[in-house]
Amino acid sequence: MLVHIHIFEAAVELAPKRSKYPLLDLSYHNSLIRGSPSAGKRGRPDILHRCLLILQDSILNHLGKLKVSFSTYSDPEISYVIDPSMRPPRSYIRFMGLIAELLRTGEIKSSLIRSISTEELLNDEVHTFLLSKAGEKIGLKGFFSKISTTEPQRFLIGGFQKGFWEKPLPHDAVLSLSDYTLSSSQVAGIVATLSALKLENGEIRG
Ligand SMILES: C[S@@+](CC[C@H](N)C(=O)[O-])C[C@H]1O[C@@H](n2cnc3c(N)ncnc32)[C@H](O)[C@@H]1O
Repeated sequence: MLVHIHIFEAAVELAPKRSKYPLLDLSYHNSLIRGSPSAGKRGRPDILHRCLLILQDSILNHLGKLKVSFSTYSDPEISYVIDPSMRPPRSYIRFMGLIAELLRTGEIKSSLIRSISTEELLNDEVHTFLLSKAGEKIGLKGFFSKISTTEPQRFLIGGFQKGFWEKPLPHDAVLSLSDYTLSSSQVAGIVATLSALKLENGEIRG
């Protein structure tokens, strides 16, 4: 069993050349983002940072049952697959430097993140759930029961602060975990933790 979590349209893009910080961040580049029609999906690399810290540190990843990837709002055709052994920098500043290097060159020195076309990454037979507040309201219990005990599954989570997706990705069902709008990292943590719990219960084989 393998759980694939894909963070789509992460609010990450390179900052203008002479900027003090390598990635666009609302706190520093508000004037560049404010008023743009896509403002809800720009300037929040911290969302991706939190997701990657939670997922790469998760019990599910330690168990070797997790695959993590992401795409960005600024270039959704390209995705990045993260090696399970990759430990994201704890420091946000260092994280920005790493992701800027990745966006500029398509790789990082350690080779623990590789780029791939989004179509190639997601165009397979893996059963895929889009997680969204607007989906079928199943709550945590309902979600736990949907985690497969035998088959690989994929979960799509938006990596942005506001809105829905611009470029739809293939999926089989849309699920809502709660009546509340949750943060991307909270949703990522729920998926990884409940999958590990099911594994611990001895309910997942393979
Ligand atoms: C901050 S939200 C984006 C806001 C979006 N308007 C929404 O309501 O989902 C970031 C991501 O978290 C996930 N998410 C947020 N609330 C959720 C919920 N109640 N159930 C399932 N996923 C949720 C979705 O994948 C969403 O794209």
